[in-house]
Amino acid sequence: MGTAFGEKILNGKVALITGGGSGINLAIAERFAQQGAKVALVGRTQEKLDNAVRGIESSGGTAAGFAADVRDYDALASAVSSARSQLGELDILVCGAAGNFPAPALGMSANGFKAVVDIDLLGTFNACRAAYEHLRKPGASIVNISATQAFVPMAMQAHVCAAKAGVDMVTRTLALEWGPNGVRVNSIAPGAVDDTEGMRRLAPNEKARTFVTKMIPLGRFAEKGEIADLALFLCSDSARFITGTVMVCDGGQSLGSMFSQMLETAVGKGT
Ligand code: COA
Repeated sequence: MGTAFGEKILNGKVALITGGGSGINLAIAERFAQQGAKVALVGRTQEKLDNAVRGIESSGGTAAGFAADVRDYDALASAVSSARSQLGELDILVCGAAGNFPAPALGMSANGFKAVVDIDLLGTFNACRAAYEHLRKPGASIVNISATQAFVPMAMQAHVCAAKAGVDMVTRTLALEWGPNGVRVNSIAPGAVDDTEGMRRLAPNEKARTFVTKMIPLGRFAEKGEIADLALFLCSDSARFITGTVMVCDGGQSLGSMFSQMLETAVGKGT
């Protein structure tokens, strides 16, 4: 994606990204910085954030890291306020901080379930709530990172399924409430994304990766940059009339390719 005459898509914008120290969120931060945004990374570990900031700066971008746990509203509000003082008025918020561990419902305690719901769902609400006063202007954009577990139930993921379904309803509700002030709110629901902590936990070996790959019509995992491209689109002026949507980026996995494969096996030929 690019603009005519080489102008950068997010020139002059300031973006705050929770969970920005690694994974998909760092890829989004890098893409936004390449496209001219100053990026504020929020995460639990300052050292991780410092490394990410150094990487962005060494590629010519502007970034700063602010340590806060998204479950702690006051710490998050203070990080948002410091980011604003250091980088300027916010235009974009990406709520990407997430937690996950695969476990059957009977293998997770109430606290285990709550830990994931608190990071993913409460953390998204907290970030939106804390950032809104700074974002409240036409052209501002919020992207919440959901997952296809929000609408496709997945065994060993009761906490994530519940949390991400909640995230998407927060997206839709805030789109209704904040649209009149010009703030757009959308979700991205990635499927299997390569080289991420989440997939290292959910598909930890080659057998599991092969199994998952077979369920994806496009035949491969996503690259982190492909999710970043979608986030860039949603935060760009090209998406100026898009709000309250959940954009799926999963190579078609959530269409139910298991059934296609079963049919292919039964009929005895490929497509
Ligand atoms: N199976 C079952 N329960 C587990 C578990 C597992 N693999 N991992 C953690 N838990 C439980 C813990 O036992 C604890 O419950 P308890 O108090 O009843 O014993 C609860 O979850 C909280 O664990 P804790 O490690 O104290 O929480 P935390 O807040 O430090 O960490 C997690 C949150 C659990 C989500 C942790 O995996 C994490 O920090 N993940 C961040 C990175 C990540 O998940 N990235 C992928 C994003 S898609």
